[in-house]
Amino acid sequence: MGKSKVLVIGGTGYLGKRLVKASLAQGHETYVLHRPEVGVDIDKIEMLISFKMLGAHLVPGSFTDHKSLVEAVKMVDVVICAISGVHIRSHNILLQLKLVEAIKEAGNVKRFLPSEFGTDPARIENATEPGKVTFDDKMVVRKAIEKGGIPFTYISANCFAGYFVGGLCQLGKILPSRDSVVIHGDGNKKAIYVAEDDIATYTIKTIDDPRTLNKTLYLRPPKNILSQREVVHKWEKLIGKQLHKITLSKQDFLASMKVEDVEYAQQVGMSHYHDVLYEGCLTNFEIGDEGEEASKLYPEVNYTTVEDFLKRYDMSAINAKVTFQHHHPRLHQYLLCPTPPIYSLSASASNTAMDMKA
Ligand SMILES: NC(=O)c1ccc[n+]([C@@H]2O[C@H](COP(=O)([O-])OP(=O)(O)OC[C@H]3O[C@@H](n4cnc5c(N)ncnc54)[C@H](OP(=O)(O)O)[C@@H]3O)[C@@H](O)[C@H]2O)c1
Repeated sequence: MGKSKVLVIGGTGYLGKRLVKASLAQGHETYVLHRPEVGVDIDKIEMLISFKMLGAHLVPGSFTDHKSLVEAVKMVDVVICAISGVHIRSHNILLQLKLVEAIKEAGNVKRFLPSEFGTDPARIENATEPGKVTFDDKMVVRKAIEKGGIPFTYISANCFAGYFVGGLCQLGKILPSRDSVVIHGDGNKKAIYVAEDDIATYTIKTIDDPRTLNKTLYLRPPKNILSQREVVHKWEKLIGKQLHKITLSKQDFLASMKVEDVEYAQQVGMSHYHDVLYEGCLTNFEIGDEGEEASKLYPEVNYTTVEDFLKRYDMSAINAKVTFQHHHPRLHQYLLCPTPPIYSLSASASNTAMDMKA
């Protein structure tokens, strides 16, 4: 059996662009929906063109034009939708009902992966309001898929590392601080963090895998199942400094959501953080017969650990290089010299030299 042809919808989005690249990298003939509504959004157009240059096919189609969706779907075997679902960005999960109708009419799709990529909406009990809306909407789409007899795989990707690890699990932060951190409750509830590129890799790995047909694929890379305190500790080790910890109780967190000037979209995000960090909703269940775990199915994927992900934010190495460049004329020599001599350098400078060799 050859590799499936893949259509990515929402391909210029935060996750979507990674899905397109992963699909191409894994050798799938890849199609990307080009919506006329994109108009003159130059960033999106440039991205679509870059996909084309990498070998993807651009397919015109719109959620307001049923026929165009049916035609797009007919070109492929697998449809992956990464339409927006984060309220603070935009939220269009229910638009997928139109896509479900198109897939039903086209009748050729071997697998549909709807826009999920987070908490398993079927496994979260008592989701906090108003964030429950995300899970309710995703369940509406699931029901339509299953009622329509469409073969599916749901991806439960847990926490996107860029959102959660980057901000040391603090809402509203996506860069790790070097002085203080707010700890949610006792900070010991375990969550699961997955680098966005790895989410895309696992997602594409699974599309032709019979083991995940009509199942949920949970992304639980074992080294990335960590509490907030463990994430913070890894950061502290990296920067060689302890952060000042400010504890935020569950009651105070919930009360802060209800403050008048907190917008609805923010409240939705806060409820999700509450469920993950105070309730431990990602790790309080075992994967049963209806699911599979990605790192077990695809052990060949060398996933990014939280530790390695955090290294992206450690500016000290970069600062050391800059300082070195300014203050050590020998660096200039080093850069120009094709086989650099080994200098006797100070501790930080020798790290710099090692970095540059790498
Ligand atoms: N677990 C986590 O931590 C986490 C974090 C973030 C997101 N997620 C999930 O990941 C999925 C993708 O989210 P994202 O943040 O990557 O999405 P996004 O970047 O906000 O948007 C993705 C795409 O949605 C499409 N879109 C937006 N408005 C549309 C409209 N009115 N009509 C048709 N298409 C529209 C656009 O596609 P075009 O390319 O066609 O313009 C856009 O590029 C969602 O299900 C979200 O819930 C999970």
